[in-house]
Amino acid sequence: GAKQRKGLMMRLGVIGGSGVYDIDGLEGAEWQTVETPWGAPSDQILTGTLNGIDMAFLPRHGRGHVHSPSDVPYRANIDALKRLGVTDILAVSACGSFREDMAPGDFVMVDQFIDRTRHRASSFFSSGCVAHVSVADPTCGSLSGKVAKAAATTGVKLHPSGTYLAMEGPQFSTLAESRMYRDHWGPDVIGMTNMPEAKLAREAEICYAPIAMVTDYDCWHPDHGAVEVSDVIRVMKANAANARATIHALTQDLSGTHAPCPHGCDTALEYAIMTAPEK
Ligand code: ADE
Repeated sequence: GAKQRKGLMMRLGVIGGSGVYDIDGLEGAEWQTVETPWGAPSDQILTGTLNGIDMAFLPRHGRGHVHSPSDVPYRANIDALKRLGVTDILAVSACGSFREDMAPGDFVMVDQFIDRTRHRASSFFSSGCVAHVSVADPTCGSLSGKVAKAAATTGVKLHPSGTYLAMEGPQFSTLAESRMYRDHWGPDVIGMTNMPEAKLAREAEICYAPIAMVTDYDCWHPDHGAVEVSDVIRVMKANAANARATIHALTQDLSGTHAPCPHGCDTALEYAIMTAPEK
């Protein structure tokens, strides 16, 4: 709300995807247990500072990869980060690619979504307090710009923009689905976890920048077979090192202050709540 307009202390949240279960080099590192009204988050949250920036890291699938994409407690995760004072989230995740030129090992700054998830609680608001936030522009352009700059310093091939199709999973797509998405719907990449995370971050008024790390060509590509977890894991390991380097470079570039978001991510609820305030 209003306090954010003056700028406040930044706390950078990092949500780690497949292959990213911790971050190294944190000063004062401590795994904290956080309770929320939505239940427990995916895991404890690793707090500390990196290059002077206050950090809160949460492995989306939990250490040991125990939560499937449908069972990740997305609301608890975003709520827990908010409770810790997180103002900005870098969301890291693995994805498949629909484009020849977005190859395994490349990073994509996702800036649009097609949300095809079906079995997940996707809002903090329901009867009792109704709110409709805008997700026309579902990510934070300013945070994403800083993340892109940081990723570029690692030498990884970075695509500055991309549309992410969020599918329910946990199975990968059929060939007919993969072709339908690619030929008719136009997403660049596909994954199972950025939704409803991005929508919930917006409802929580947290700037959200998703970086998708390509692990495979899904199953559409005539020169590549069906997606296999063994391939995904192999590419993921190389990607994870670049993700860590990106996080380090990003903290070197940040000032430690969360300036008012020029896109309004941090004031998203200002005109969104329909329910009359209690007298
Ligand atoms: N995550 C990594 N590769 C994927 C794919 N091909 N489809 C959905 N999620 C993925």
